[in-house]
Amino acid sequence: MTNDLKRIGVLTSGGDAPGMNAAIRSIVRTAVHEGLEVRGIMRGYEGLISGEIIELNSRSVSNILSRGGTILKTARSAEFMTETGQRKAVQVIRDSGIDAVVIIGGNGSLQGAMALEKIGGIKTIGVPGTIDNDLGDTDYTIGCHTSVDTVLDAVDKIRDTVTSMERIYVVEVMGREEPYIAIMASLAGGAEEVLFPGSRMDLAVVAKDIKEAESKGKRSWIIILSEGYGDAVTISREIAGITGYEVRPVTLGHVQRGGSPNAPDRILASVMGAYAVRALIAGETGKMVGIKGHALHLVDYRQACFEREKDQKLNQELYDITKLLAS
Ligand code: F6P
Repeated sequence: MTNDLKRIGVLTSGGDAPGMNAAIRSIVRTAVHEGLEVRGIMRGYEGLISGEIIELNSRSVSNILSRGGTILKTARSAEFMTETGQRKAVQVIRDSGIDAVVIIGGNGSLQGAMALEKIGGIKTIGVPGTIDNDLGDTDYTIGCHTSVDTVLDAVDKIRDTVTSMERIYVVEVMGREEPYIAIMASLAGGAEEVLFPGSRMDLAVVAKDIKEAESKGKRSWIIILSEGYGDAVTISREIAGITGYEVRPVTLGHVQRGGSPNAPDRILASVMGAYAVRALIAGETGKMVGIKGHALHLVDYRQACFEREKDQKLNQELYDITKLLAS
């Protein structure tokens, strides 16, 4: 061991994502294998502030690999946004004899890790756990693959009604400002249109496309809408207003965060969790585990949180293929 790490903490924070449990399992078992003690911090930063800390060993994480959600529970903590809350959290970490913490979560969670380091010099390594896939310098985040599968399952089902009843549906999916889920589910689900921030797609153009396609015999449409572009009810109403057709809104909501993680998310979580523990043992701190190609690496928190380079070119290419295949 290159530093005096004896006890590490692990927490999940922000929106839950399928594969968080697989990451917890990997972190705990890798740490135990390396001779470390592990503490689970319940309910994210909220539970950290109030000292909700439990002991974890290899048996505590039995049979969780395939389970959605997070056994450590999670929260969005308003108190931790304040300096007073952050100071309380630092004190709890010190009082519990925790030498370093693995933080599993998205953008806000990693910014929380930055605050712990800034205010109290706490060592942390982040593991990207969010369905949004909106962090910098990583191809994927834990949960994004399962979420796309879930959306796809819903789109396939909606397609049955869309085709049978010759209707137009707008299906709103999550992802904040990042269109990953929308674009991937559109391509995989054969959507006729996908609306996402950055696409600059005008609803008048969508309406014109629908009319033109109808004159060529196309009678049903699925439009996948990334939540960063707008909400399904409003967008449906606007398209209905221009076309004169009935347009039905569907908001998939939190089903997209639930369910058993698929194989890619379990594998990603397992390798990232182990990598995070080994990074701490090697003396690393202030970084998130990322994956590029098939290689794991460490990403500075700032880059992970603030320098997400939206791959507009790739998005446009995938969009073009989606449109071509739906014609
Ligand atoms: O960040 C994950 C996410 O599910 C986003 O896609 C979505 O905008 C947000 O969380 C919803 O958050 P909440 O569950 O707090 O409403």
